[in-house]
Amino acid sequence: MSKQLSTPDQGRRQFLSRTLKGSSALMLGAAALSSQLAIAQQSVSAQFNQPMSGEDYWQMAREQFSFPETTVPMNAAKLCPSFRSVAEQVAFLTADIDQDCSFNNRSKFLDLLENTRALVAAQLKVSAGDIALVRNTSEANNIINNGLDLSAGDEVIIWDENHPTTHVAWQVRAARYGFNVIKVAKACGIYVCVDGAQTWGAMALDVKALGMDSFAASAHKWYKGPKEVGLLYIKADQRARIWPGVVASGWWGNGPETRLSGARKFESLGQRDDAALAALSVAARIHDSIGSARIEQRTVQLSQHLKSGVQSLGLPLVTPLDTALSFGVVVVQTEAGQGGPLSNRLYEEFRIAGAGTGGLRLCLGIYNTLAHVDRALAGIKQLMV
Ligand SMILES: Cc1ncc(COP(=O)(O)O)c(C=O)c1O
Repeated sequence: MSKQLSTPDQGRRQFLSRTLKGSSALMLGAAALSSQLAIAQQSVSAQFNQPMSGEDYWQMAREQFSFPETTVPMNAAKLCPSFRSVAEQVAFLTADIDQDCSFNNRSKFLDLLENTRALVAAQLKVSAGDIALVRNTSEANNIINNGLDLSAGDEVIIWDENHPTTHVAWQVRAARYGFNVIKVAKACGIYVCVDGAQTWGAMALDVKALGMDSFAASAHKWYKGPKEVGLLYIKADQRARIWPGVVASGWWGNGPETRLSGARKFESLGQRDDAALAALSVAARIHDSIGSARIEQRTVQLSQHLKSGVQSLGLPLVTPLDTALSFGVVVVQTEAGQGGPLSNRLYEEFRIAGAGTGGLRLCLGIYNTLAHVDRALAGIKQLMV
């Protein structure tokens, strides 16, 4: 790699300072946009730091989402509504790009991306360079299974409780390279890749202390961030052995090494949704303001309220009562094949949006109220008792 090469950030900044020296218009635009984002971050922090408690606090939280009471989301394991302020920032920043999609205007998004990265990394108790902001959990998982050097005779051990996307990704790779996929849980001297799709944003996480080699998650689930932003953490001493899944603009040199430092090398994905990546910082500020312990307690409170209500109706649960084993996921047992139809009826007749996965699955987020849970229970009673 030539020593003269500069990083994309440096290159763009040099270009800007060469061609736009003395132009205050661009700097004004960038500063205005950054401060607009900073104002949004501060105002959501102020909102969530109000001296309120109990249901008053959670009612205020519910009002930070745009869905109407007529259609209540209960499918956090799949997709959450974004905080309204996050969606507003995505729209605002997208409009900014659409009004001026020059390199000059868009260069400010490099700083905004780094701002987002720093906030998210601090919450996970890792360094900014340890995380890549990719598109979703599926992509993050695929970067690992595609990036490790594996060949015929190697063994990959996967947990049989994995999400189908993880199963299929490993099976397809095994068909290509001829390694064996084994479904047991055993971790001893092997690379440990954790699918954190159901944990990021739902509970306090100390990723380094947990000791895994990599961790994948999606911001559009429990984090309630923008759509199609994902997280890939890779332990520093493991990064060099993972090949990038996609190599696109922003990759420098012809080999496996690049000047995109740390886990950023997994962000060489072509043109990104810069607005969404920047707006993730607003969700990060909200999480900091509420606090992960408080979010965790509320999620448990809501799901336990639902579980005990289902039990009072005399209906069996698939998910254990123990919150350590089921957390915010509640699955009501149904007759075989009835999960989907019941979920449809709960939506059509009671406007509760759950899922027919493994039975009737309802996953509650902090935008749900106890009244929402009671409404779901009334629907379940009518449909299933
Ligand atoms: C455990 C788990 N892993 C991965 C995924 C895939 O997530 P995404 O579609 O955001 O990539 C899901 C989706 O529900 C999931 O629950």
